[in-house]
Amino acid sequence: MTSTSLPDSLIATLPGSYYTDPGIFAQEQERIFETMWFCVARSSELAKPGAFKTVDVGRESILVTRSRDESIRAFFNVCRHRGAKLCIEETGEVKRAFQCPYHAWTYDLNGKLVAAPNLTRMPDVGRTEYGLVGVRVREWLGYVWVCLAENPPSFEDQVIGAVRTRLGDVESIEHYDMANLEVGRRIVYDVKANWKLIIENFMECYHCATIHPELTEVLPEFADGYAAQYYVGHGAEFGTDIKGFTVDGSEGLDRIPTVTEDQDRRYYAITIKPQVFINLVPDHVIFHRMYPVAADRTIVECDWLYLKDVVRGGKDVSRSVELFDRVNRQDFDACERCQPAMSSRLYAKGGVLVPSEHHIGAFHDWVRERLGARQPE
Ligand code: FES
Ligand SMILES: [Fe+2]
Repeated sequence: MTSTSLPDSLIATLPGSYYTDPGIFAQEQERIFETMWFCVARSSELAKPGAFKTVDVGRESILVTRSRDESIRAFFNVCRHRGAKLCIEETGEVKRAFQCPYHAWTYDLNGKLVAAPNLTRMPDVGRTEYGLVGVRVREWLGYVWVCLAENPPSFEDQVIGAVRTRLGDVESIEHYDMANLEVGRRIVYDVKANWKLIIENFMECYHCATIHPELTEVLPEFADGYAAQYYVGHGAEFGTDIKGFTVDGSEGLDRIPTVTEDQDRRYYAITIKPQVFINLVPDHVIFHRMYPVAADRTIVECDWLYLKDVVRGGKDVSRSVELFDRVNRQDFDACERCQPAMSSRLYAKGGVLVPSEHHIGAFHDWVRERLGARQPE
C-alpha cells in the first residue's frame, strides 16, 4: 500500500495521521465503537435494581442499569423531552426511576415514561414511545457489553468468536469461571495515546525483553519476542523456578479449581476487538477495557479478578496485582512515547512491522476496511 518497496521482512504500519487526525477518530467512533459490541461494565457494578453507570460509547452517553426483574438494561442517556443529559453522575443508584433534572420527566428502570408535569393532560403521549431509547445488551464472563447499532453484529461472532479463534475453543475460557470471580483490584489508567497504539502493543511481544523485566522473568519464552497470541491455543509457560504469576515469582493465590492441568502454570492473552484484552493465569484473570476519548487519549480500566474467598478473606493480592500493574505502566509509557511521533513528518507514511509483528498488519487492514472509503493522504 505504500509506494516505497520494503524488504520482505518488513511491512508498513498505518500512516501517522491514523493516530492523530480527529476526522479519523470521529470515523472510528461512528464505524467501530458505535457499531460493534462494546464492553461497558462489570455486572457486579450494577449489583441491584436501580444501580446505574454512565459510559461514553463513541459519541454517545449510555446509561446502564439493572431493572426490577434483575436484567441489565441500557439506554441512550438523553431525555426524550428536550434532550437534557439524564444522568450526570458516572455511577449511582436510584430507587425506582430516573428523573430528568430539567422539567422532571421521569422514567422507570425499563425506560418507560412514568411521570411528567401535566402528563395526565397529554393522554396522547405514549409512555413507551416517549420512553428512553434502549440499546442492545449482552452479558458474558461477568461483563456487560452494549451495541448501539440498529442491526448489531452477532455477539457470537464478534466477541465469543475472538476468544474461540485465540484459544481454539470456548470451553477453555469457561474453565476460569469469570462470572463468579470477584474484583480484587481495579486500576484506571489515563493514557495519552491513541487506542490503536495500545492494541498494537498488546498484540506483540517484540518489546517484552526490552521493557518487561519482571514479566520475562516469570514467562521466559516472552524474551524471544513471539507473543503468546501468535499461536492458536498456546499459553506461555511459567519459568521452572516460578511459583506464581506475581511480581517476584513468589506463590500466587488459590488456583481457580476448574482450571485444567494443561492450563496450569500458563498465561494466555486474548484481544477482543475493538477494546477488550483478557489475560488468564491459574489463580486470576486480568480484564482490560479501553475507552477511547480522543485521537491522543484513552482511558484503560483494568480489573484483577480472583476467587471470592480470596477477596472476601482479605488475602494479600498486592504482589499478584503489582506484576501486571507494572507491565501496564511499562506498556502505556511506550505508547505515550510513540504518540507525539505520530505527527512527525518522519512518520507521515508510517513505520514498519518485523515478522513477529506481521499479524498487526491484519489489524491495520481491519481498521482500513471498517473506515471504508475515506483514507488520509
Ligand atoms: S429536558 Fe428532560 S424533562 Fe425537559
Ligand atoms: Fe507489553
